[in-house]
This record gives sequence, structure tokens and C-alpha cells, in this order.
Amino acid sequence: MGNRKVKNVLVTGGAGFIGSHTCVALAEAGYQPVVVDNFANSQSDVPDRIAQIIGTAIPVHQVDCTDETGMRNILDRYEDWHGVIHFAAYKAVGESVAHPLKYYRNNIGSLLTLLQLMNDYPLHHLVFSSSCTVYGEPDHLPVTEKSPVRPAESPYGYTKQVGEQIITDQQQVSPAMRSVLLRYFNPIGAHPSGKIGELPLGKPENLVPYVVQTAAGWRDQLTIFGRDYPTEDGTAIRDYIHVMDLAEAHVKALDWLHQQEAQETPGIFNIGTGRGHSVKEVVDTFEDATGIKVPHQFGSRRPGDVSSIYADATLAQRELNWSASRTLGEALHDAWMWQQTLKPPA
Ligand code: WQD
Repeated sequence: MGNRKVKNVLVTGGAGFIGSHTCVALAEAGYQPVVVDNFANSQSDVPDRIAQIIGTAIPVHQVDCTDETGMRNILDRYEDWHGVIHFAAYKAVGESVAHPLKYYRNNIGSLLTLLQLMNDYPLHHLVFSSSCTVYGEPDHLPVTEKSPVRPAESPYGYTKQVGEQIITDQQQVSPAMRSVLLRYFNPIGAHPSGKIGELPLGKPENLVPYVVQTAAGWRDQLTIFGRDYPTEDGTAIRDYIHVMDLAEAHVKALDWLHQQEAQETPGIFNIGTGRGHSVKEVVDTFEDATGIKVPHQFGSRRPGDVSSIYADATLAQRELNWSASRTLGEALHDAWMWQQTLKPPA
């Protein structure tokens, strides 16, 4: 490494699905990811798997991001920080409806703790993990960053909206702070090495984990929720983005932050492919990409689902010099390769 300054990047929730892939992208771009995770929703061997991919171990601290003392003990060990990427949050929409306080305490509490620490430490650049759920059911497609934010459909979605507002308010009174809100569309797939991927606990809520578990014979059949949407084949449309494309967007956003002079408000970027695909298209593309049939039936719509949403991702292309490069087929193939490394639940 010579005397090149180590650029530490704090990655909260760094053992999770998007966090772990972002650690790989950070290391490959020459940054030093420092993982903080309470392992409530991630497996303890993920940091070792990240090390296998990048060829070197990374610092890992098992701390809950709502624990201010625990977080201070970590930050005290490092001279300087290149930035922080804040993933740590619960993210299951359905669970958030059943357990709102758990979501508000964890998702908002961890952000408040982090922002307080950013005041007290040389930690000035924040990348915040937000979500396209802030748009609700858009009137116009594709959605741009100027599309209206709609009332959240779930406590989970509301924690993202409130998180964006808290960061915006704090940015206004923190001259040294630089922040960016990344509104993810639908992250899918896995690292092509097959060493890290999505690890849904129990029955998957999301489409692609359910598809690959059905293909693997863990589930009898996929139910497609709704066939009467106002779309070409009647099934709902989303913008599915390969998790490695999403991970690389975080590195570009961090670089962008270091180019910003003073900021009045956070940067806001849609991180999607700019293309929508229906549920049926996802199933068909998976079958074409893997040669494996996915037994499925059509059921009624899932409450809270929107019909169609996909990104206008041109702002990220222009400002961050980033765009998604991997196809839906590649993402589904990588998801399937990862699924085949997993053991069925006991
Ligand atoms: C996609 C489509 C379902 C399962 C959610 C969160 C979002 C983000 C991504 C965290 C929908 C259909 C699904 C199934 C199906 N999460 N589906 N059968 O709801 O767009 O977004 O996950 O950041 O914030 O809101 O993703 O994968 O759950 O659903 O037909 O068994 O697949 O109805 O149309 P969603 P999803």
C-alpha cells in the first residue's frame, strides 16, 4: 500500500445483501470498507466471504447502530473517514405493517445516532440507502427525482421518507456535511462468484428469491400476484437492477460527494436500469436464462402493490457518470447460481 492514505468507508449493515456487495465494489475501487452490523438480519460468515472475493480481510464490528456508545467505541479507533454508507435498516414491507415500532425504533433510531456521530467525528460524507417506494404509485413513467413523493404505503416506506427529511434538515445546519440519497428500484441477483447473495429469512417476500427457491424445489409453485393490472400482460411492472450495478453506484456517489462544494440540500438520485419488466417477463426470462421451468399460478393482487414503476436514471448517468450495465437475464442467472449454493431450510 506504500504511504497511500487508507480511505476508510464506514458501511453500516455491511453484512447485508446490498451492503456486502457494496463492500466488494468499494474494495475493488481502492477504498477500505469498515463493516458495522448487528447481524440481526445477516449471516456472520458474510465478511469472510467478502474477504474471499477481494483477497483480503476487512474490519468488522458487531454493533447495533442505535447503540451510540458502541458506535463511539468504533469511531474512536479510526483516525479519519472517507465517508459512511448507511444501509442498516429493516426492510420487509409486510413485517413493518405488523411491527411498526420495531421499524421506527431501528430505522429512524440508527439514522439519528449516525447523524449525531457525524457531528462529533471527522465523518462528513453520507450516502443514504433510500427506496423508490417514496414515489408510491406514480402518475407518470418513468419516474424522475422530481416526481412527487407520495404518502407511504407502509411503516417501512415511511422510515425512508422520514429518513430523507431528517438528512435534509440536518444538511441545512451542517456546513461540513455532504449527503446523497440513493433511491433504489428493485435490487436482484448476486455476485457472480456465488459467494454472496440475497439471504431471505424464512418465506421470501420478494419476487426473485421466490422464483429461484421454486426453481430449486424449495417451494411448490410461484403465485403471481395479480394478472389484471393495466399492463401488456396484466402483471405488475418493476425496474429490476443487478445488485452489483447498484453497489457500484454507491462508489460513484461517494466520489461525487467529494467533488461537492457546500451543499444546501442532499443530492437525490434514482438508481435503476430505466427499464421496466413485468412479473411474467421475469419468470420467462429466468426460464430462458437457466432452462429451468418455474411452476406458477396467478393469484389476486397483493395489498399495497403499485401497478408499474421504473426509473428515469438519466440524472445518475449525467452527474455520477454511472449507469446499470448488467441485463435482467444476467441478474437472474447470478441469482440462480447463488441459490444453488444454499441448503434448504431445516
Ligand atoms: C415485485 C413484484 C409483486 C412475490 C419491495 C419493497 C422495496 C424494495 C424491494 C426494500 C410485485 C410480485 C412478488 C411473489 C409476485 N425493498 N410478486 N409473487 O414490492 O416491488 O418492492 O422490495 O428496499 O422497498 O417495496 O418487490 O419483489 O416484493 O415484488 O407476484 O411471490 O413481484 O406483486 O408486483 P416490490 P417484490
